[in-house]
Amino acid sequence: MSIKKVVVIGAGTMGSGIAQLCAQQGLDAVITDISLDLSDAAKARIEKGLAKRVEKGKISEEDKNAVLSHITTAGDLTPAKDADIIIESVIENIEIKKKVFSEIDKLARPDTILVTNTTSLSISDMADATNRPEKVVQMHFFNPPPIMKLVEIMPGAKTSKETLKAAEAFAKMLGKDPVVCKTEAPAGIVSRILGQLLNEATWMVDSGVADAEDIDKAMKLGANHPMGPLQLIDFIGIDIHRAKMQTLYEKLNDPRYKHPKLIDEMIDAGKLGRKSGEGFYKYGD
Ligand SMILES: NC(=O)c1ccc[n+]([C@@H]2O[C@H](COP(=O)([O-])OP(=O)(O)OC[C@H]3O[C@@H](n4cnc5c(N)ncnc54)[C@H](O)[C@@H]3O)[C@@H](O)[C@H]2O)c1
Repeated sequence: MSIKKVVVIGAGTMGSGIAQLCAQQGLDAVITDISLDLSDAAKARIEKGLAKRVEKGKISEEDKNAVLSHITTAGDLTPAKDADIIIESVIENIEIKKKVFSEIDKLARPDTILVTNTTSLSISDMADATNRPEKVVQMHFFNPPPIMKLVEIMPGAKTSKETLKAAEAFAKMLGKDPVVCKTEAPAGIVSRILGQLLNEATWMVDSGVADAEDIDKAMKLGANHPMGPLQLIDFIGIDIHRAKMQTLYEKLNDPRYKHPKLIDEMIDAGKLGRKSGEGFYKYGD
């Protein structure tokens, strides 16, 4: 499989990180979203992050410019036409994802593999929105994608062995250390285990057992976790965390995955974590 051009759909936290990762490996990455402004803003964020690394002496100005030269932006799906691989990383909503898959299926070359970075939605549902379900696969990146070593790869019901192998090879090409799930299961490995841990922490805040600071401190000092569970939810995004728990709850039909009302109240109040400036903690600009 020869991959030179990657199209990343969704210019948010994950999409921009995945595009940066691809560009750092010398691949041409196109970031696209519902508007060019959003894609341009993602590229500007990448540039800002790289400039900080230059300031700290971690990379050179030339390195920064080389990465940026591999990233272009778009405001629609037309770049899908000549993509070697397409990575969907739009918001965690199955109807929107199915629509995106149906549209890219019509545009992309027949040999192009279509990847979803969903956290917990059905790969098979997305694959069935296309005429190439055997070429649809999940590659679940971790935040921040340029740094985190793991990529979880998961098939849908009709994903071919070749597609799974190609996804694994692509992850390795990006410098990652992938794991491959044998079958489709909601939320893969890490998110399912971690989801419950994070959920338990939110129930503890909700029922007044301890403050967020103390829950986080306890898990850092007592379990050697590098980050507390509530800090981590803020980092992931409270809306993303809730979507994942809702899917696990519905798909596994298990009350262990239910989230507390506190999470709904925070989302209603616009407290989505770091990205909105406030979650369990308050953040500056
Ligand atoms: N945040 C995480 O830690 C994390 C980790 C792994 C996977 N994921 C998954 O990655 C995906 C994206 O998450 P995120 O955190 O980057 O979300 P985000 O909210 O930061 O970004 C989502 C982007 O999708 C865009 N979008 C919405 N509809 C679109 C459409 N029809 N076409 C093109 N773009 C569209 C939005 O404008 C937005 O820029 C989700 O499926 C999420 O579950 C998230």
